Amino acid sequence: MMIAPSILNIDNLNLEKDIKIAIDAGITRFHIDIMDGHFVPNLSFGPQLVSDFKKSFPGIEAEVHLMSDNPKVLVPAFVDAGPDLMLLHYEAMTMAELDHWLDFLHEHDVKAGIVLNPDTPVSVLTEFAPKLDQVLIMSVYPGFGGQKFIPESCAKIEAANELLQNKIPVEVDGGINQETAKLVREAGTSIFVAGSYLFCQDSITDQINELKEIVER
Ligand code: DX5
Ligand code: ZN
Repeated sequence: MMIAPSILNIDNLNLEKDIKIAIDAGITRFHIDIMDGHFVPNLSFGPQLVSDFKKSFPGIEAEVHLMSDNPKVLVPAFVDAGPDLMLLHYEAMTMAELDHWLDFLHEHDVKAGIVLNPDTPVSVLTEFAPKLDQVLIMSVYPGFGGQKFIPESCAKIEAANELLQNKIPVEVDGGINQETAKLVREAGTSIFVAGSYLFCQDSITDQINELKEIVER
């Protein structure tokens, strides 16, 4: 079980400070949300953020959640930035393209995964399973932090674990707090992404510790 904090809702001018606080609280992986203003109606970070992150924190994993339907430009650009893992949306490209980009990531020593939006069934993972290091189930519609958790996500997490025979870690992203973390833990989540719950309250350390208690129980 692992918490992968999403840095999306950190005050950008405090990024280094808040990331350090999270690392001191035991975090070993961060979730970096990349939004292209087209596949989702919002913009976030560019490749430089990922390379700066790896320069400052080489021992900490950077997981890129690529919310873009322009993989041709953005996958190579973000691979060059040196992330440890990249997650591609099933809805953002054709199946042939998805297959190609999963191979591309592995060829460049980047772990690869598929992200499913709330309306996409887990059955689409079947033919990609041998190529996946991780699966991400969206528990909100992507685009913004601070949204409400969609309860139907729990059944999808269970179904994904069943389909993948519990061999590939299933991650959940969106609306995770103390209450929803319990629900998704019971459903079989291995990696918990949390943004506003960790970074939009008084103490990042306290929030991480509270979530850890639930995730690690
Ligand atoms: C939404 C992003 C999430 C989000 C998580 O598009 O993929 O990673 O920022 O934020 P919270 O935890 O606030 O839902
Ligand atoms: Zn995300």
